[in-house]
Amino acid sequence: MSSPFVSLLVFVFLCLLFTINCQHPPPQGTFIDCGATNTNTSGFQEWELDFSFISSGIPKTLNPIPDFLPIHLQTLRSFPLGDGSRKKFCYDVPAVPRAKYLIRTSYFYGGVNGNDFPVPPVFDQIIDGTVWGIVNTTDDFYNGVPSYYEGVFVARVKAISVCVAINAYTESDPFINALELIRLDDSVYNTTDFGNFGLNLVARNSFGYPQTLIRYPDDPFDRMWKPSGESYSTPKIVKDIDVAGFWNLPPLNIFETALTTEQESPVNLDLQWPTVSLPNSTYYIALYFVDGRNSSSRVFNITINGIQYYQNLNATTAGAVVFASRWPLSGRNTISLIPVEGSVVGPLINAGEIFNLLPLGGRTLTRDVTAMENLKNGFENPPIDWNGDPCIPPEHAWTGVACSAGPRVRVVSL
Ligand SMILES: *[C@@H]1O[C@H](CO)[C@@H](O)[C@H](O)[C@H]1NC(C)=O
Ligand SMILES: *[C@@H]1O[C@H](CO)[C@@H](O)[C@H](O)[C@H]1NC(C)=O
Ligand SMILES: *[C@@H]1O[C@H](CO)[C@@H](O)[C@H](O)[C@H]1NC(C)=O
Ligand SMILES: *[C@@H]1O[C@H](CO)[C@@H](O)[C@H](O)[C@H]1NC(C)=O
Ligand SMILES: *[C@@H]1O[C@H](CO)[C@@H](O)[C@H](O)[C@H]1NC(C)=O
Ligand SMILES: *[C@@H]1O[C@H](CO)[C@@H](O)[C@H](O)[C@H]1NC(C)=O
Ligand SMILES: *[C@@H]1O[C@H](CO)[C@@H](O)[C@H](O)[C@H]1NC(C)=O
Repeated sequence: MSSPFVSLLVFVFLCLLFTINCQHPPPQGTFIDCGATNTNTSGFQEWELDFSFISSGIPKTLNPIPDFLPIHLQTLRSFPLGDGSRKKFCYDVPAVPRAKYLIRTSYFYGGVNGNDFPVPPVFDQIIDGTVWGIVNTTDDFYNGVPSYYEGVFVARVKAISVCVAINAYTESDPFINALELIRLDDSVYNTTDFGNFGLNLVARNSFGYPQTLIRYPDDPFDRMWKPSGESYSTPKIVKDIDVAGFWNLPPLNIFETALTTEQESPVNLDLQWPTVSLPNSTYYIALYFVDGRNSSSRVFNITINGIQYYQNLNATTAGAVVFASRWPLSGRNTISLIPVEGSVVGPLINAGEIFNLLPLGGRTLTRDVTAMENLKNGFENPPIDWNGDPCIPPEHAWTGVACSAGPRVRVVSL
């Protein structure tokens, strides 16, 4: 059941069928419309102006504004590239200590840096002291669509800082269009050690042929489930499922479509997923299953690149989620669903989520952070990158501040 080099946590959680359709209350959190000068409502949410969360950068409005773009992506905050040194620009967003947040950053370049820079800048994003990843919106820019990045992090203190930062590839002013911190239920992704790791979303797909992106009001936390096709047949599945009982609280309608092989012949289903090539790292993987049939037995083994992930999964109308908390992967990956002897119908899968585990960076000693904040507040014009953690990540420390290395990071000089 587990491979020799990974400790696998597998749970199968059964839920009951109900006939009520549950309505979720709107997600709770902070929704920031970067660079906006008027508050507008878009989607389910009233968006806040960003002035109270950040002191640097210039508000800009896209010109022209593409028709399809939601209001909260029509403006952005732009940060000066300056001499290209690795400055960071941070939003400080109030949070509940130890609460779990889905953090989403949204980007739509729209050529705001002028004709000299037809291609969007590439830069880093940072959560507290952890480099979350590179923001490279080039492909989406050519396809004319916004770019979304999602991560899951637990607040360590009463604010979370979310920064964009200049890196070695940044050729023009970095920017951001929207920032969301959505409070997640404590049970969601709860096998992750959030004291030491954050989660960076790689892919979240609803398989089969769902018509559109699935999010709020179907998903209680407005997580985005992208449709994913492939040439398999698509049975319609039962609708009345009680997701309240389901691990990770997925939206109901991911179970309305599925990938499956020929319904009456139990042959393997091989899925190239996720579609991108992965860096060598450790991943959290959750796969979701519900069988709309209530008679014949649909039992299969699951392997990832030939390594056993779960055996004898009995997909029933009650549903199941199978997840691994720390699974090593690299490059392209194949998930195989292999019918076991005696299974009379082929395997099926409804949805999947995969996150990269990000080891968390440290924090500067709170006493020193407070001292630096006080010093900053005493300046009339503090340096523009004096926000977020003063020392961490080390390559993005505050300009002019020298810090000690090691586990207990301190400011050593100015
Ligand atoms: C946003 O709201 C302001 C008033 O608060 C209004 O003038 C403006 O037209 C709105 N913007 C859009 C794109 O609807
Ligand atoms: C950004 O993405 C484009 C398109 O995928 C790629 O060609 C380019 O190398 C990437 N840039 C960096 C710095 O990763
Ligand atoms: C995670 O959440 C599930 C569903 O609510 C619960 O049954 C389980 O005990 C939780 N596990 C941990 C480690 O908190
Ligand atoms: C991935 O990294 C680990 C640890 O650095 C290494 O042992 C392993 O061989 C690497 N795997 C691949 C496929 O490169
Ligand atoms: C399957 O469900 C249908 C409709 O809910 C019901 O009529 C039928 O008796 C069920 N079959 C079995 C074997 O439970
Ligand atoms: C799978 O579950 C169904 C419904 O609970 C049950 O009737 C069937 O015997 C199970 N099959 C196996 C192989 O466990
Ligand atoms: C399913 O997994 C079990 C346990 O590893 C194995 O004994 C069985 O042969 C597998 N079945 C198939 C069809 O691969």
